[in-house]
Amino acid sequence: MNGQTPMGLAAAAAAAARPCRRRLLSSASTSAASKTAAGTATRLFPKLPHPHQPPYGRRLPFLVSAASQSQAGPATPVPVPVPSDPRAAVSGNLPFFDRVLFPDSFPLETPPAREEEDAAAVQTDEAVEPAVPLREETETEREAWRLLRRAVVSYCGEPVGTVAAEDPECTETLNYDQVFIRDFVPSALAFLMRGETEIVRNFLLHTLQLQSWEKTVDCYSPGQGLMPASFKIRTVPLDENNEGFEEVLDPDFGEAAIGRVAPVDSGLWWIILLRAYCKITGDNALLERVDVQTGIQLILSLCLADGFDMFPTLLVTDGSCMIDRRMGIHGHPLEIQALFYSALRCSREMLVVNNGSKNLIRAINNRLSALSFHIREYYWVDMKKINEIYRYKTEEYSHDATNKFNIYPEQIPSWLVDWIPEKGGYLIGNLQPAHMDFRFFSLGNLWAIASSLTTPKQAEGILSLIEEKWDDLVANMPLKICYPAMEDDEWRIITGSDPKNTPWSYHNGGSWPTLLWQFTLACIKMGRPELARRAIAVAEERLSDDKWPEYYDTRSGRFIGKQSRSYQTWTIAGFLTSKMLLENPELASILTCDEDLELLEGCACCLSTKRTRCSRRAAKSHSG
Ligand code: GLC
Repeated sequence: MNGQTPMGLAAAAAAAARPCRRRLLSSASTSAASKTAAGTATRLFPKLPHPHQPPYGRRLPFLVSAASQSQAGPATPVPVPVPSDPRAAVSGNLPFFDRVLFPDSFPLETPPAREEEDAAAVQTDEAVEPAVPLREETETEREAWRLLRRAVVSYCGEPVGTVAAEDPECTETLNYDQVFIRDFVPSALAFLMRGETEIVRNFLLHTLQLQSWEKTVDCYSPGQGLMPASFKIRTVPLDENNEGFEEVLDPDFGEAAIGRVAPVDSGLWWIILLRAYCKITGDNALLERVDVQTGIQLILSLCLADGFDMFPTLLVTDGSCMIDRRMGIHGHPLEIQALFYSALRCSREMLVVNNGSKNLIRAINNRLSALSFHIREYYWVDMKKINEIYRYKTEEYSHDATNKFNIYPEQIPSWLVDWIPEKGGYLIGNLQPAHMDFRFFSLGNLWAIASSLTTPKQAEGILSLIEEKWDDLVANMPLKICYPAMEDDEWRIITGSDPKNTPWSYHNGGSWPTLLWQFTLACIKMGRPELARRAIAVAEERLSDDKWPEYYDTRSGRFIGKQSRSYQTWTIAGFLTSKMLLENPELASILTCDEDLELLEGCACCLSTKRTRCSRRAAKSHSG
């Protein structure tokens, strides 16, 4: 089985046993000791004991000590290979992992204005020294910090995340009062760059616990490594007398989500955030914990499991990422591929190399090289490539067909013929047999730059296209989620007549200010900070006056979105993160990956003499 390690398998098997109530995990540093002193395994989360069974059918699977385990019954310890000196094993076997050192000026900005109303909500880590003011924060930044802190939620007295939106005027909260994994990423980055690391650590460890939760939709259980889309903290009575209460985490893996779609991106974001956290804090102790290592492996085991695929890209259903409703992105959407590539690169740096993980690391390397070749070669379009497709022959049956996916030239949409600039290009949204989705999706393209999924030349080309098409992609609010919108019959058929995704609204060509931080990151990586500065200035002009909306509508992003929430946390956090990244561009490296030419050397297709289409030379052909 591809990518399964004995450790991953054992953990998966132990955790998969129903009912999934307990999972025995201990940090690598305590495992060795616990061999001799039973019962010393650390209880990780929750910090406050939750000794009673909540009155629900499922509960948080605790980390239990060996002593409590024997009382609890038949749980079997996970046979995890323990290095004799775990610390040495980690540092010695993490050759890629470099900590990013804070610049001298860290923390980066002035402390928050502690107004009466938010003083209670301020939860700055004790360890962080008072910030040395670098420059006066603008009023908009001060407001953003106040709002971000207001969105923080606590579990057992500790900050664990931020709610999706805190809109006092909105009576219908839906699930916007939950902590979404993907939404929390920019919040986490803002806190990390400000030296407030505890909330991120708590978030990472709590969501890790949720990973092994029992999850079912109509008696069917998805894979063990799945991370939830979101979670909520509920207060429940300890017993029937309502005399005491406890807090429980209630995750949603898609069982309650609109369309019941599994959030494929959650686990990938979790891995990306874990690396950012570890790089900025140097918290290797967290990284070497067996539960953390197992968590990474479970996510990857799901992603790398063998299936019927002919492509190295991840096959997913519609709505399995930021675009979480039907928008015709099922198959191999770019956003998922870029996050997948990034998560594989991050995992390769973070996994402890030992007998249990070496097969997985080999599988990661193979997948990385095949994936980068596939995307660089088949997803990339520019003027020249579109002209090639325009002249494609079809129905080619052979190993060395030029038009491998049988794309009919008639598929080239009329808007694209005029739209594609002479200079630059982009990665298309999706590639399937006889189907290229030519829409431009911002997040996938930006994350492909950040993670080095594209060649450096392609990355430059994408930014150059964004600059050239500024009025379409940025205009009055950065950044269009995708371009162009689907209209008329196409909208009816592909979205299922979704009234929220009408043309130029929400996921269908709406403008999402949260994408600003990913744009800033890509600009910094490519040495184009002035482009990001320009976009931030556009956003700063409106966001506060407009109450920090979730998204904007119309072709040029002029109106606040039809059903847009106000005080959307990732809008606020995205703005702050963009500003902080621009001021401290060296911190971008906690999120980015550099071009790795060795990956192209390792491409498995090089071994084949007959099927020579995938060659190192071909993969590098765009990198000049
Ligand atoms: C919407 C977005 C999704 C986001 C959620 C919470 O459903 O499509 O990406 O995570 O709102 O903000």
